[in-house]
Amino acid sequence: MASRLANWLDERLAWRQVWDAIFLRKVPKINWLFTLGSATLFVGVNQAVTGILLTLYYVPTPDHAYNSVQYITTEVTAGWLIRGLHHWGASALVVLTVLHMLRVIFHGAYKYPREVTWWTGVGLLLIVIGFGFTGYLLPWDQKAYWATTVGTRIAEVTPVIGNWILRIMRGGEELSAVTLARFFGVHIWVLPATVLLLVGAHLYLIIHIGISAVPKREE
Ligand code: HEM
Repeated sequence: MASRLANWLDERLAWRQVWDAIFLRKVPKINWLFTLGSATLFVGVNQAVTGILLTLYYVPTPDHAYNSVQYITTEVTAGWLIRGLHHWGASALVVLTVLHMLRVIFHGAYKYPREVTWWTGVGLLLIVIGFGFTGYLLPWDQKAYWATTVGTRIAEVTPVIGNWILRIMRGGEELSAVTLARFFGVHIWVLPATVLLLVGAHLYLIIHIGISAVPKREE
């Protein structure tokens, strides 16, 4: 029954071709360092799932943000676990992304024909940092408030357009409800939409070009 359904769908969707391209592709002899990209992807999926769950209770306003986070941590069933996974996952994501990038650098895997894979990776690194920066404000506690005050103030030091950047980030001269709404919007809509596009391109290129081999000593 299951195989008949699979065949029926394959005739119409050619899904076996897609499956084979993803899971049965040939890979050169590689080592554990090559799992860093997949580990990054795994933690990224953890962030997406736990982040979506957090939005069910989190309220992005100065009046309620702090209390809603406390409520998630102390009252909601497994809320502490979901928040903990998202909190520690954020740090793990930054560490893994950087380690994965270092692996790519040390193996020279950014060279022809993988330049575009590298560029999409640079975009992903910036987005991961953006996720960290915008997410840090959301608990709206003292640490969050002052870290964002300092972070946006650093952006203001940019020559010529600094004050303009600060006002775009804060939604005015000071941190306010607008800043929180803005950071939340960027954290849950703008960055995830961009990340989907870039991860899609990154993975497509990895499958299309194929993974690089470990460089040999004489190369
Ligand atoms: C959210 C962040 C990222 C995810 C989920 C991700 C995912 C992956 C995966 C699954 C692979 C294949 C396995 C591997 O080589 O480890 C890969 C390869 C690659 N990644 Fe990333 N990556 C990310 C960030 C980056 C960054 C920051 C860079 C560099 C700036 C980068 C550049 C590359 C390159 C050039 C390859 C091809 C490596 C090869 O063929 O040997 N990636 N990535």
